[in-house]
Amino acid sequence: MKIASVSDLHVESSVNRRAVAAMSSHLEALAPDVLLVLGDLCNGIHDVGNVLAGFDKIGKRRIYVPGNHELWSGDGDARATYYRTLPEIAAQAGFEMPIDAPVVVDHVACVGTMGWYDGTFADPSVDAARLAEKEFEGRSLLDRHRVRWRSGSGSTLGDCEIADMLLADLRDQLAAVPEACGTIIGAVHVVPHPTLLGPRWERDAAMRYFRAFQGSSRLGDALASDPRVRHVFAGHNHERIDAYAGGISWHLAPLGNLKPGDAFDPSRHVAVVDVD
Ligand SMILES: [Fe+2]
Ligand SMILES: [Fe+2]
Repeated sequence: MKIASVSDLHVESSVNRRAVAAMSSHLEALAPDVLLVLGDLCNGIHDVGNVLAGFDKIGKRRIYVPGNHELWSGDGDARATYYRTLPEIAAQAGFEMPIDAPVVVDHVACVGTMGWYDGTFADPSVDAARLAEKEFEGRSLLDRHRVRWRSGSGSTLGDCEIADMLLADLRDQLAAVPEACGTIIGAVHVVPHPTLLGPRWERDAAMRYFRAFQGSSRLGDALASDPRVRHVFAGHNHERIDAYAGGISWHLAPLGNLKPGDAFDPSRHVAVVDVD
């Protein structure tokens, strides 16, 4: 079974929009059995349906996992956007979103979540109180201003509470994988394992600061707890990385924020694996 994964399309720029059109043609020719689209398609929800619909001929099954950028809606209810609005938009575009249950394709189960950051990737040299500011030398983490998760009672959820909630979804899906599935693949937006953080995250004080907001090692630990998990695909960190650690192959193949003159490159912008 051929699995292809893309992420971080960021279609706000014309360079990225051209690359996404080329990506769609490439994926159509590649003809994977399962296509994973792992978030950060656009800022807010308004273009999500259009972007997903551009991939509607690709793959026998298509799976969408939102990224933090889709939650930049400003309406103050990221929880409703994630659990209600985005699954509806995805379904209309022919995509499935794993939330309560895995997506099962023959004998392969796909478990997934956007995931959130919880401080487990924080550089030990960075003070915890400084991290709570989400700002370093004038550079601000934009999620802080643009994403608001609320509890059932209306109070604002902190990062660890959001991470716990999404991690619980992942664990529930793993627990619900049918016995007949010999292989599980993971699909997350944020970084689930430190092997997907390249050396650039140690490069300077700013990178060491923002490393904390790349994801959560607890996602990787949950995935590694099931020996049937063979491949995990992610996004969020705009680096092309394939790595093997803890019995799992980890893959990042984001489009990211292309520069003028850049173009779609299948070797960098699509991760493809065959699973049996
Ligand atoms: Fe991104
Ligand atoms: Fe992201």
